[in-house]
Amino acid sequence: MYTTRNDLPAKLRGKLEKLLNACLADALDLEAASKQAHWNVKGPHFIALHELFDQVHSSVEQHVDTIAERITALGGTAHGTVQAVAGSSSLQPYPQHISDGVEHLQALSDRLADFGRKIRAAIRASDQLGDADTADLFTGVSRDTDKYLWFLEAHLQSKR
Ligand SMILES: [Fe+2]
Repeated sequence: MYTTRNDLPAKLRGKLEKLLNACLADALDLEAASKQAHWNVKGPHFIALHELFDQVHSSVEQHVDTIAERITALGGTAHGTVQAVAGSSSLQPYPQHISDGVEHLQALSDRLADFGRKIRAAIRASDQLGDADTADLFTGVSRDTDKYLWFLEAHLQSKR
């Protein structure tokens, strides 16, 4: 950790760096997965899904930057290379050979839901560590994750 005038204790900042980097890896993986879906989806709902998957990407991309910059603000190092993420993401690998819209909706919903569950755990963890700012950051991520999970799942919920 870098020395900083930030008054949060170094030990606490170290714990937050670990927590934030774990979420950064998952968010970067999810960001790439949403582009994978955006590029490769096919079928009768192509244009709507192509655009929706890009909206998911834009939302996740913003959160990636916010998470990474919280790490550096706390005196840590953000680990955002493709190689680092490949070694540390906890999400299931995104399928390479699907094309159907429903298959992409299911694959991206599965990963968005998993990410959402881990972000909710990160809210609790940062709250327990006593960092209201990081908990607030994760809360914003969580709210958008829930929203886009709804956007994706609404396509899959026409029948109860
Ligand atoms: Fe595009």
